[in-house]
Order: sequence, then structure tokens, then C-alpha cells
Amino acid sequence: MAYLGAAYLWVKAAHVIFVIFLMAGLFMMPRFFVYHQESAPGSDEDRKWIDREKRLLKIILNPSLVLTWIFGLMLMVEIGAWSFGWFHLKLLFVLGLSAYHGWIAGYAKKLAKGQRTLTDRQLRLFNEVPGIAAAVIVIAVIVKPF
Ligand code: HEM
Repeated sequence: MAYLGAAYLWVKAAHVIFVIFLMAGLFMMPRFFVYHQESAPGSDEDRKWIDREKRLLKIILNPSLVLTWIFGLMLMVEIGAWSFGWFHLKLLFVLGLSAYHGWIAGYAKKLAKGQRTLTDRQLRLFNEVPGIAAAVIVIAVIVKPF
């Protein structure tokens, strides 16, 4: 349903801008977690990381996720993306990224309570997830292989 007219490219630009902010936040947070876990629970350093993580979520990650979804869904309706195979692949990985976002928010809460359930190695390994997902998503939406 082409309803955006000349605004289509503006909406697409806005979509990609918020995708960049979202990805930046998703790459930063597990790094924050690794540094955070080096501080002693209850220390000044611990409190500083709790505050930084809260702010990254509130100011960058959460608004970017919402706006990426809103602009992405507007584009979906505009080009009737639902009928394309590449879009289903993209959506699968976007849902995965959104779940990863949820996990990040959950782990930040755990750290704020003094719980450190993952090792640095596990956190560094998790940090590969958004990179791989972003690569698949960009290939799906640009190459449109099917
Ligand atoms: C949140 C749900 C999302 C939805 C519903 C969505 C949907 C869409 C749609 C329908 C388009 C238009 C494609 C076209 O005009 O040919 C688009 C463009 C794009 N999306 Fe998304 N998207 C989402 C999230 C993401 C994410 C997380 C990324 C990257 C990690 C991403 C990267 C891109 C890029 C780079 C383009 C521009 C492609 C071009 O130049 O044509 N999107 N998106």
C-alpha cells in the first residue's frame, strides 16, 4: 500500500539512522557489563556502572528500538514487504535482536542487584550475536536473495 509518497525515502533514512543508534547501544552494553563486573559489588565504581547502564538503556537503546520498529513497520506496509521471502528472514533476525535487547535489559537489572551470573568470556561471546544478526539483516534487505 503506497501511502507515504515523497516521504518514503525520509522514513527509510529515519529507519536506518535509528538502526545505527540501536546497534551502537547493543554493541556497547556487553562491553559495559565486562568492565562493570571488574568492580566490587556495592563500590563507587559499581554504582557508576549501574548508572551508565541505566542511562544507555533509557536514552539510546529503548527509544531507538521503538523508533526502528515504528519506521520499519511503516516501510513494511508501504512496499507490501510481507509477501517477500527476504522480509521473513529479516523479521526472524530482527525478532532475535529484540530478544537480545530484552536479555541486555534483564542482565543490567541483575548487575544492579549485585548478581553476576555470567563470566567475562560468556559476555564477550554474546557480543558476537548483534554483529552476526546485523549482517544477515542487511544482506536480506539489500541483496534480497529470495
Ligand atoms: C524492527 C523491525 C524492522 C522492520 C519491520 C524493518 C523493515 C524494513 C523495510 C520494510 C525496509 C524497506 C526495504 C525496501 O525499501 O526495499 C527496511 C529497510 C532497511 N532496514 Fe529495516 N526493518 C526493521 C529493523 C531493521 C534492523 C534491526 C536493521 C539492521 C540491523 C535494519 C536495516 C535496514 C536497512 C539497512 C534498510 C535499507 C535498505 C535499502 O536501502 O533499501 N532494519 N526495513
